[in-house]
Amino acid sequence: MLGRFLAGALAGLAGLGAALAQPYPSRPITVIVPFSAGGPTDAIARTLGERMRASLGQTVLVENVTGAGGTIGVARAAQAAPDGYTLSLGHLGTHVVNGAIYPLKFDLLNDFEPIALVASNPMMVVSKNDVPAKNLRELIEWLKANPGEVAAGTAGIGSGSHFSAVYLQKLTGVAFNFVPYRGTGPALQDLVAGQIDMIVDQASNSMAQVQGGKIRAYAVTADKRLSAAPDIPTSDEAGLPGFHISLWTALWAPKGTPRDVIAKLNAAVVDALADPTVGQRFVAAGLEIPPRQQQTPEALGAHHRAEIDKWWPIIKAANIKAE
Ligand code: MLT
Repeated sequence: MLGRFLAGALAGLAGLGAALAQPYPSRPITVIVPFSAGGPTDAIARTLGERMRASLGQTVLVENVTGAGGTIGVARAAQAAPDGYTLSLGHLGTHVVNGAIYPLKFDLLNDFEPIALVASNPMMVVSKNDVPAKNLRELIEWLKANPGEVAAGTAGIGSGSHFSAVYLQKLTGVAFNFVPYRGTGPALQDLVAGQIDMIVDQASNSMAQVQGGKIRAYAVTADKRLSAAPDIPTSDEAGLPGFHISLWTALWAPKGTPRDVIAKLNAAVVDALADPTVGQRFVAAGLEIPPRQQQTPEALGAHHRAEIDKWWPIIKAANIKAE
């Protein structure tokens, strides 16, 4: 009896040893996207994941875990096993702003291992076509003339589209209502359908609809125009100096993920960002790829910390509540 038990235990241990000994990655990797499929963060995850598969030799799956401005998906990743098979793709909203708004049960800096900064893009102020405004000044006048009447789509409190809209309100003194979605993918569909009036959206999400004439753009929150949309003015040019937001997206792993695994994942991201097909797709959407020296885990760690130091006082002063 004891002999059979020991044999079983040894076989089990042997199996575990073999599994542990398998080179990483030995099975598909899941990237948790904290917003809906079809939106800007999801699009980045799928483009990146598809190319990382070539470097890693394993499929990179995207799992959309949505809600609460992205905090639910990020929490799921924070609690995942630190084995390199569950990753968190997020951005300035999910991994910085939300920390100043929500009573999070995890630490945005210390519960994650930085892998790499992936891309950034400005926000773009867009509206449905029948809004009676031809430029940003007229849009602000129209908003002032219709206080509390206008519906702005967001991806939930603390998301990029939400805190950027709050920032626009603070800078201009206008008041409009927020209509929360689980991502700006579905919000954009409702804007095109005229169900809502406007979004302060990631340029990469609205670009195609603007170029297709389905919605109207007023400005990008950058200090220079996008090469993919040279006809859209900057916020400075459009009469709202200082309305600057660069929404950066990055990849993290749970705290404790081994260094060699982080190094492999980082190398796969770097490969992907150097791939001309990925580059063309990102640039066409208005996404900027960080320079090579900013594609290291250390560079993301430093950038993340600096952005928290910059934005938390601003967000806390804006008194944004999580409910
Ligand atoms: C999305 O992917 O839906 C966006 O990143 C949401 C946002 O932050 O506005």
